[in-house]
Amino acid sequence: MTNPPADPAEEVLAEAMGHLYPAALRAAALLGVAEQLADGPRDPADLAGAVGANAPYLRRLLRFLATRGVFREDEDGRFHLTPRADVLRADAPRTVKPSVLAITSEFIWLPTTHVVEAVRHGRPAFDRRFGHPFFDHLAAHPAEAALFNEGMANFSATEDERITAAYDFPGSGVVVDVGGGYGALLLGVLRARPGLRGVLFDQEAVLAGHVLGRLGEDDRWEVVAGDFFESVPEGDLHLLKNVLHDWSDEQCVRVLGNCRRALRPGGRVLAVEAVIPPGNDPHFGKLLDMSMLVLLTGHERTEPEFRELFDRAGLRVTRVVPTAGALSLVEAEVAD
Ligand SMILES: C[S@@+](CC[C@H](N)C(=O)[O-])C[C@H]1O[C@@H](n2cnc3c(N)ncnc32)[C@H](O)[C@@H]1O
Repeated sequence: MTNPPADPAEEVLAEAMGHLYPAALRAAALLGVAEQLADGPRDPADLAGAVGANAPYLRRLLRFLATRGVFREDEDGRFHLTPRADVLRADAPRTVKPSVLAITSEFIWLPTTHVVEAVRHGRPAFDRRFGHPFFDHLAAHPAEAALFNEGMANFSATEDERITAAYDFPGSGVVVDVGGGYGALLLGVLRARPGLRGVLFDQEAVLAGHVLGRLGEDDRWEVVAGDFFESVPEGDLHLLKNVLHDWSDEQCVRVLGNCRRALRPGGRVLAVEAVIPPGNDPHFGKLLDMSMLVLLTGHERTEPEFRELFDRAGLRVTRVVPTAGALSLVEAEVAD
């Protein structure tokens, strides 16, 4: 049987209801449904008892998620784990549960209802909804900050291996992870290059959750708290992963200028970002850019935009290296 031709009206209408999918993912993640199916399929009544839910409502939730390949209902009405449901399990090797809970949390989601205001005025929707900028909000709300930082660390986990595989990190010297969050990428880089030392630079409250102790060699790293708009620690390679996209061009030029001043001779700056390609095809960077539009003053950039930005900070882009994922590495050196 062939599918009927697409009806644009029906398609757009269904897409306008698309928010119900992340809402359903969030509910399943909060209830811990995937964890309860790890040992085999269960029927809704049994499952509802295990997760503390209403059985008929839970069945409706899972029936909808099954249309996206998240859980599967069999002929006997039992629900099974699928690969797409398994990643909602907290202990799954490739879990995305912390990211799902952060991305769908109220403080990140609610400002999306103000996208039109952001577009009209060229200002983040977040500021309009909450009356202050995103990172100021996190500083004042530790529980939401923890949710965001854990989400970021989890979000990064899928990318970090691809980054260390794609770039020939130096074998010696000091790498500074500027705005490095909990330091998962830095940990991966230090593991891959035993002769390298690392500095994790971020805001004090964030550094409290760092993971560098897992390296097992405490003399190879240090954490430094500070404000990258003021200065950054000295080093041979300044890593900025998903940092520039948070900020306006003027703000980025300040951060990059501070990196340039802190670079040792022959050093490099390495920005890791979703470089947006030309054309209309879907690209993760275009999706992430909507998130920037809602939350922050920054935006995702094209390669020419990165070249211009680095140029304004006295840096010259030497190459753009793709990774196996959505992010690319924009490498730069001090311009003459
Ligand atoms: C989007 S997160 C990226 C974290 C990490 N690089 C990653 O990819 O997982 C941006 C980071 O910048 C840090 N940050 C924001 N403003 C900062 C500032 N003024 N000085 C230093 N770090 C800052 C945040 O605390 C956060 O960890």
